[in-house]
Formats: sequence, structure tokens, C-alpha cells
Amino acid sequence: MYTVRNVTDDLYWVGGNDHRLALFENVHPIPRGVSYNSYLLLDEKTVLFDTVDWSVCRDFIRNVESVLNGRPLDYLVINHMEPDHGGSIEEIILRYPAVQIISTEKAFLMMHQFGFTIDGLEDEVKEGDIRNFGKHTVTFVAAPMVHWPEAMVSFDVTDGVLFAADAFGSFGALDGKLFNDEVNFDRDWIDDARRYYTNIVGKYGPFVQALLKKAGTIDIKIICPLHGPVWRSDFGYILDKYDKWSRYEPEEKGVMIVYASMYGNTEYAAQALASRLCAKGMSNVYVYDVSNTHVSYLISETFRLSHIVLASVTYNLGIYPPMESYLRDMKALNLQNRTIGIIENGSWAPKSGSLMAEFLDQEMKMINVLDETMTVTSSMNELSAPDLDALADSILESMKE
Ligand code: FEO
Repeated sequence: MYTVRNVTDDLYWVGGNDHRLALFENVHPIPRGVSYNSYLLLDEKTVLFDTVDWSVCRDFIRNVESVLNGRPLDYLVINHMEPDHGGSIEEIILRYPAVQIISTEKAFLMMHQFGFTIDGLEDEVKEGDIRNFGKHTVTFVAAPMVHWPEAMVSFDVTDGVLFAADAFGSFGALDGKLFNDEVNFDRDWIDDARRYYTNIVGKYGPFVQALLKKAGTIDIKIICPLHGPVWRSDFGYILDKYDKWSRYEPEEKGVMIVYASMYGNTEYAAQALASRLCAKGMSNVYVYDVSNTHVSYLISETFRLSHIVLASVTYNLGIYPPMESYLRDMKALNLQNRTIGIIENGSWAPKSGSLMAEFLDQEMKMINVLDETMTVTSSMNELSAPDLDALADSILESMKE
């Protein structure tokens, strides 16, 4: 009950924060934790918007009970059925057996698949359907693939509150600070918001674009996502980020150099290129070791920046495995519209460069691979210098376009 916060006079955040989970979806590191947001509306009827992950269910139930203060729960709206939000549906049904569940046909199918007993509780809604709960009227908007096919968002027409499901969410526990204007989002949150979006929803850019178009037609005053801060100001900031991310447009001109190096020689080439770029006036340059940077961070940076250089040693006559994994993630997340430079290394048969170029050409869309590639045979020497200069110049030239 002590973690509940008012979103509006009659809408309450009743979710939970998790600092114990190391890997979101058992894949993505979340060193700042994560919040599972749920919202409870007190009107003539009581309405809960989504539940939470099982891990914070105890806090969540205490929050719900304290806000209801003895009232029954009349409705549970499920916007998204992934278990980090739908995981506590059964706990709600156990405590409030008469609750009516409002959701989509596909979400009800998933509830059955997950083994939930919901017979007789379903109230199926489609795009544009409306429910009135007293003072508040809520309409439902389909949001398929943001980020599962069953997803919808709900819009409280009365107060202009958008329950946005996974859209506009972020990694990071709230730790008391519920609203975007209570944090320095651009300093402390944007990297986690980008990493969340790009890795979780990044593949589905066209669906996010469709949702943004629908959002543009309604008068939104508050955005309540299922993770991270609630937005009640500065919508232009986050909408602009979402627009760019979902169109696969970079946020800024800059160079990300990702290297795969076994003994430091390819790393040296990556650092040499970084130095050369900075010396030539482009200092928005970032260097990452593919072996010790989790791929979720690499993907996030890949969405942020306009230019990427892949520097890979040849391994078993192929691409170094962590570099190959990064490339496959890029493809899986539908990354497009980037300019990519290549550095390869090999002591007897340098091959990684041609293989990376082939992957980018044949497996990915709208990728401009620079002609000026650099081949290192074991380690850089004076013969490599002209190629390094040519690659740096080619990157800078392509930035003028
Ligand atoms: Fe936070 Fe797609 O679930």
C-alpha cells in the first residue's frame, strides 16, 4: 500500500519494481531493474488495467487491495498477455472471482494456452469498441505486434489517458519516481528506453508506425506504459524517438566501431580508425568489444547511430562467432538504413570481411556497405595506413549525403 501513487485523482499506479531479475526475458541484462506497471481506476465501477509479472505479485496484490479498500474489482482490462503483464491474472481471479476480463480474442486464446481458468469471465472487444464505467469512457484500439499479435491499447476518453501496453516503455525500476518529469529522462533513462524498444519491439517498426498514426488522432494527456515512467509532458520528445526508431532512422550522425579481436590486433585497428576519424573532425565515435558487450547494448547503439564499422578477425575461415551473432540480431530486428564499413583480419586467409559484406548484402535490407574495406594480415603495419585513411575518408564523405 505504501508504493501506490496517484496518476490522476481516481487512477492509481499499483504495479511493482524488480531489482532481483538479472535478465529480462532471460536474455537482456537489466542492471537498473524493471518496473511492471498496472493501473487501477476507481469509478462507479472499478477497473484494473493489466496485471504484473509473478515476481512482484505480492506487492501488486497489496497495492490493489489497499486502493480498492473493500470494494470489489469489477473489470480487468488486459492490453497485453505476455507473462510479464499477464502473469498475475489468476491471482486476481482467485481474489475477485466475479471480475469481468476485457480483452481481445487472441489474448483470450493465449490465456487458455497459459492454463488460466477464465470461462464465463470474458468480455471480448475489438477495435473501436467502447465501455463506460461511470464517469469514464474507455475505447479500445488494436495494436498488433506491439509487441505480440494479441496486443491492444486502451484510451480513457474522459481524462485523455492512454494505456499504451509495451509502447513507450523502458527498462529500469521506478524506485518511487513515477512520472517522466520527476526524472532526467534524457540523461538517465533514454539509453534504457532505447535498449528496451530496439530489442523488444524493434522488429515491428511498421506496426509501431501504424499505432503512432492512430495516436496522432486522439487527444492524449497522459501515457501509461507497462514499464518505466508515466508520460504527462514532453510527448514530442518520446514520440520523435519512437518515430525514428520505428522507421529505422538513426538519431544522430556518428560512428560505432564494433570489433572482434582475439589477441588485440583487430582491436588496435579499430582504435586506429577511431583516432583517425576524430583527427579528421568526427569525434562522435564509440568503440565496442563484441566479446564483452552484451548484444542488447550493441543493438541499441546500432539504432542510435548512422554509421557502423565491423572489424572482425577470421575464425575457422568464417566470421568470429560473437560478431556473427550480432549480425544475426541486427537482421532479426529488421535494422535498415545504415552505412557500414568493414575491417577484416586473418593471418593466413582473411575471409571475415567478404563474409560480412555478403551477409549485409544478401540478408539485410537498405544497408550501404562502403567499398573501401581494410584488410589486416595479423597486425596493422605501414601498408595498412592508406586503407585506414581511405576508410575514414569514405565514412566522412558518406556523412555528407
Ligand atoms: Fe513487457 Fe511484451 O511485454
